Amino acid sequence: MPAIVVVGLQWGDEGKGKIAHFLASWADWVLRFQGGNNAGHTVVFDGKEYVLHLIPGGILYPGKKCLIGNGVVIDPVFLAGEMEFLEKRKIKVKGRLFVSDRAHLIFPYHRHIEAFREALKSRVGTTRRGIGPAYGDKFARVGIRICDWMDGRTFRKLLRQNVREKEVFVREFINPRRLEAKILDDRKKVLPKIRNVVTDSAALINREFNSGKNILFEGAQGTMLDCDFGTYPYVTSSNPVSGGACVGSGLPPTKIDEVLGVAKAYVTRVGLGPFPTEIKGSLGEYLRKKGKEYGATTGRPRRVGWLDIVALKTAVEINGVKFLCLTKIDVLDGLKEVKICKAYKIKGKVIKSFPASRRIMETAKPVYEVLPGWNKPTRGVTSFAALPPNARRFVRAIESFCEVKVVLISMGRSREETIYLSEKFPP
Ligand code: IMP
Repeated sequence: MPAIVVVGLQWGDEGKGKIAHFLASWADWVLRFQGGNNAGHTVVFDGKEYVLHLIPGGILYPGKKCLIGNGVVIDPVFLAGEMEFLEKRKIKVKGRLFVSDRAHLIFPYHRHIEAFREALKSRVGTTRRGIGPAYGDKFARVGIRICDWMDGRTFRKLLRQNVREKEVFVREFINPRRLEAKILDDRKKVLPKIRNVVTDSAALINREFNSGKNILFEGAQGTMLDCDFGTYPYVTSSNPVSGGACVGSGLPPTKIDEVLGVAKAYVTRVGLGPFPTEIKGSLGEYLRKKGKEYGATTGRPRRVGWLDIVALKTAVEINGVKFLCLTKIDVLDGLKEVKICKAYKIKGKVIKSFPASRRIMETAKPVYEVLPGWNKPTRGVTSFAALPPNARRFVRAIESFCEVKVVLISMGRSREETIYLSEKFPP
């Protein structure tokens, strides 16, 4: 009766959507435990490409059940919209999607606060979905949970208090009374739809686990965007690390069997913040020529860098990863040489651990191991042995640097463009 957590080990966009979708065939339940509609999971299913932001990708798999845990922040209008988007495409949602009654909600004033902060010099470069301010309210204990939103009288009182408290920010964009009326009106429209999916999700998932069901946790964002372990303050406001799966769902650590890490063969990040291996030249230009690498949620071009082993090794440790899925290796096809950042040079000293201080991080210079590239395409290859020898060498170098086993290599969005290195998958 296993429960598996899939986590991103970099700055998001590792291709977790594809891996989670794979594992969905094994799972009975697919759960989200953190973040909100700042995520963007691209899944190719039945030849069609779907980008889901809030509902777990498992919903595309007939018969699977999905849960949005208490650790997720939910924009109710967005949730109702995504449910409709799926229903219009004949994907059944009723009886298959469940949402925690304890999940906190995102309201337009959260986006206003975020827009206000993002206009300042100290901005983070967020997705502007109101994620940070919603989590801020949760921990300041002024947030509004779905269960309280559903109760009209309680909600009106909490809403009035919240709008009053946030008037200074709101006024910049809209008359506070009009905003309040709009939020009440939105509630009227979407409540009938959402009411049916709300449940005590911690009790539900523990019950399902105890009855032998397989549970898959679909992490959003990545370890380097984790509010505690990432490149703070250029992070998201939740805990994408594996530990977040327990807090964000109510399934205890004793019930988690395995953590599967997903990392790209290089790194990208959207938004601001230090990025020691960022490159302006070869790989970046190469990707631009291929017309690749735009964020699925923001549509912003991504900053590109060589694989950062210092960050990856830290992520492997914090998440408890033994098995690694290496994605997008095909992007490196055709390069004369490929680089791996094995340490940082900070003020003349070689450092192999990931620094916390933002000032130190900004000055870190990468120390590279340079490996020969490969000329033959990896796309279309279906076994490890058939990969170009230098691509195999690259994979083995990652395994030995990070002390993990690469169990899957992916070189494209579809199911066929995958190499399995372990007979037993999931592990
Ligand atoms: P927020 O999550 O909207 O608060 O944004 C905080 C930071 O996390 C920004 O740098 C975003 O670009 C980044 N971010 C949030 N969600 C994702 C994601 O799903 N993929 C990649 N980056 C993300």
